[in-house]
Amino acid sequence: MQLNVLTLPGDGIGIEVTREAVRVLETVCRKYNHSLTLTEGLLGGIAIHKTGNPFPDDTARLCLDADATLMGAVGLPEFDNAPPEKRPEKGLLGIRRALGVYANLRPVRTYKALIDSSPLKNHLIEGTDLIIVRELTGGIYYGTPRGITGEGDEERGTNTMTYSRAEIARVTRMAFNLARNRRKKLASVDKSNVLETSQLWRKVVVEVAAEFPDVELEHILVDNCAMQLVLNPKRFDVLVMENMFGDILSDEGAVLAGSIGMLPSASIGGRRPNGAWVGLYEPVHGSAPDIAGRNKANPLGAIGSVAAMLEYSFGLMAEAAAVNNAIESVLNAGKVTADLKPKTAPLTTDQVGQAVCDAL
Ligand code: IPM
Ligand code: MG
Repeated sequence: MQLNVLTLPGDGIGIEVTREAVRVLETVCRKYNHSLTLTEGLLGGIAIHKTGNPFPDDTARLCLDADATLMGAVGLPEFDNAPPEKRPEKGLLGIRRALGVYANLRPVRTYKALIDSSPLKNHLIEGTDLIIVRELTGGIYYGTPRGITGEGDEERGTNTMTYSRAEIARVTRMAFNLARNRRKKLASVDKSNVLETSQLWRKVVVEVAAEFPDVELEHILVDNCAMQLVLNPKRFDVLVMENMFGDILSDEGAVLAGSIGMLPSASIGGRRPNGAWVGLYEPVHGSAPDIAGRNKANPLGAIGSVAAMLEYSFGLMAEAAAVNNAIESVLNAGKVTADLKPKTAPLTTDQVGQAVCDAL
């Protein structure tokens, strides 16, 4: 198969983890006789420095030309006080929206080898295997009106959470389809005891559920869900929720996995001009300026995102499984970075990448 992949390493540790993810992708392509063409583009702080724009038009074009895009992370401390429009994060929001990737899949697994890396009690997290489906192109992240107006005591910040029936239905359908191929359980997360958007959310989810009688549906309020995720994560299979709830709960999921450096993600749902699906793959973690450039970052979230790309964008299930098995064997061998608190000396970013390639 021919794989045309765009990489957007971005900022901070994004550059280091993307390098290792690419090495793994090259290794898997060699092993399974696929032909890989790589292109690199600019996104985030580095793109602001080079072009003045966190999401340059060139990058948008490259994304639509590629079969799939592998992203690192965006964010640089020098932009911390810049207005939202001029921040690296704006590039990330721009690319998600431009590609129309409305469903962000964030799987959370507790690997046996990492059970002691989590601060939570072993018996609570053992066997956790869930997927958060986060709506990614709507809600309060994008809603208008927004902004800061007025002065003095009357100065006011405004954001708007808004969802249409169509936006809710398509991401819900995606989540039901995933659940259908797993343990057939879907939890829809909302705040319908307070928010109108959540009341509509719940109504539409119930309607879509009629298409999936084989999947068991539960509704859960977001505050209770935050508690259940650490009290009894095993009760969850697939969870679907609006954009900001998903942002928050997926970081909580990182505690179940031992480190946020472990979590991969796949953003899907959009189409290219030729009708083919687009896919955007990125680790859940940020650019981690505090450890950037020190070869310390955990590349396994980025490498897991390569597995997700092989599965969702290319339908290469054996190749995806090979990458996931290689990750697991590296974990079992204790070859991990410092964030996972190994009992022996931690490995560097590139040593972990090399270990995954060797395992492949
Ligand atoms: C994430 C990140 C982003 C988000 C930031 C960097 C804009 O936290 O992907 O979870 O809020 O979506
Ligand atoms: Mg986040």
